[in-house]
Amino acid sequence: MSSETRRLFFALWPNEALRREIAARREVLGRISRRRVPEANLHMTLVFVGDVPADAVPAVEAAGAAVHSAPFELVLDRFGWFPGARVVWLGGEAPDAGRALVASLESALDERGIGCDGRPWRPHVTLFRQVAGRPRLPEPAPLAWPAREFALVESVPGRPYQVLRTWPLE
Ligand code: 2AM
Repeated sequence: MSSETRRLFFALWPNEALRREIAARREVLGRISRRRVPEANLHMTLVFVGDVPADAVPAVEAAGAAVHSAPFELVLDRFGWFPGARVVWLGGEAPDAGRALVASLESALDERGIGCDGRPWRPHVTLFRQVAGRPRLPEPAPLAWPAREFALVESVPGRPYQVLRTWPLE
């Protein structure tokens, strides 16, 4: 079917220990919205590719495979709220090596004729959706995230995100 599309994004995908730490920090926020991101879906987007024709998936994978970028350390040390998206997140400063990874992914996609969102990278893990007003947010205990690999992930409505491929940062 030529009309079939797939919704893809590149992300840092937490290991189980990190996932538990992120979920534990979320607990202090209580129930600021009924739309908690399922724990299995917690992740940090690097580049949102969006809907691509199914036959373009190999080109997106090739873009990931073409990227050679250094490992880096992230520190998640703040909660925040995006008024447009109405999401509450856990995030931190963007390290230079993280920005370099994002820029490499964007240009690898561009070289293959695949567009992407292109907005500046704001490192965050979305915790809650549909948070209508700016909430009061405490300061979390900082959480170190050693980024050693990145992933190509697929979003299928009603299902947990699926990691399709991972590549090392080295
Ligand atoms: P978010 O967590 O801040 O909502 C899958 O949808 C992932 O891609 C989410 O982490 C989402 O970010 C991110 N993303 C970035 N831009 C997006 C867009 N325009 N539409 C949907 N998701 C987007």
